[in-house]
Amino acid sequence: MHLTPEMERALAGEQGEGRRKALELLVAVGEIYGAKRLIPITSAHLSGVSYKTIGDGGLEFIEDLGKGAKVSVPTTLNPAGMDRERWREMGVTERFAEMQNRIIDAYSALGVVTGCTCTPYITGNSPARGDHIAWAESSALSYANSVLDARTNREGGPGALAASILGMTPEYGLHLDENRKATVIIDVTEGIEASDLSLLGHAVGAKVGSAIPYFRGIRPDSNGLKSMAAAMAASGSVAMFHVEGVTPSAKEQDLAGLEKVAVGKDDIVHSRECLMSGSEPDLIAIGCPHLSQMEMKTLASFLDGKRKRVDTEVWFCTSRTVRTWCPKEAAVLEKFGKVLCDTCMIVAPIESKHRCTATDSAKACAYLPGLCGQQVVCGSWKSLLEGVL
Ligand code: F3S
Repeated sequence: MHLTPEMERALAGEQGEGRRKALELLVAVGEIYGAKRLIPITSAHLSGVSYKTIGDGGLEFIEDLGKGAKVSVPTTLNPAGMDRERWREMGVTERFAEMQNRIIDAYSALGVVTGCTCTPYITGNSPARGDHIAWAESSALSYANSVLDARTNREGGPGALAASILGMTPEYGLHLDENRKATVIIDVTEGIEASDLSLLGHAVGAKVGSAIPYFRGIRPDSNGLKSMAAAMAASGSVAMFHVEGVTPSAKEQDLAGLEKVAVGKDDIVHSRECLMSGSEPDLIAIGCPHLSQMEMKTLASFLDGKRKRVDTEVWFCTSRTVRTWCPKEAAVLEKFGKVLCDTCMIVAPIESKHRCTATDSAKACAYLPGLCGQQVVCGSWKSLLEGVL
């Protein structure tokens, strides 16, 4: 891979240990994938934040990489293992909270914006069309590629962090035009409701793996697109998709000769059946990916004037920024559960308190058994909330 003289000096350690290690990592990744050079990025988004998922080793890595280094592009952070203000109400231990705060402080010392959300594109880190970026968090990076038409590979936490320190990333994969083209057509054969889009994404991700699907027959809004992005990245490893008449580069696709796959109601039902493993939830968690302003409004208008009659714990997960934007809606939701910020049902240590979780997110359903030891109830947010009224 071509390195400029300045990069050679960084690799020799002349710009500090943090930049040396970051560059070493990017060069190694670039060489594996046949990148010819490093290209500038305009932003980064980092995963690997929850103490539950990265532990002491992860904290050491961040502190180590950060010795003398700072991020050199705007960089945001994925959800942490707790709401930084309400962690006691979540049942999080003092030790967990202390270590979680150390992780966030280590990122903050690097210059990272510590908003802790998986929807950074809603809260200020919104790249422009064509921008090269280095984003981890599979749902956010798929949304960035597909809906914003920015360019990122499916980064891991360390790769995105190294890229944010150097302001560069190896040029390969989805940074290149030829790798961003649709590779399979998904014909949605029956009317799919908005509440089915997450399960549609799950069904398609399971069928296509890492392909780039081109959807026909649906018109999702931005909330539907974020649900689909999350689900396809969880059941498959889809990092980009097109939706006819909706996503910006769909009209540039050449569909001639592509395989066609039909997906309908049966696939949605099958996905739900595969994900279901429980029946009596002790936690209902809505907000994977984090709730947008519009979703907060929709939930609040559904719940306003109703009464909670069943004592099941309910979480609404969102970013602190969106919560701040929606004080009236948050007040309505708080009568039915907790509006939690900075965290989510997957990266929080819910297994210490809960056994069976219900959610409307196919991504969360896919991860709850393995990452949280949960039985799973999968339903629309309306049907789940109706269960506590
Ligand atoms: Fe976000 Fe957590 Fe879901 S990080 S996409 S709410 S698993």
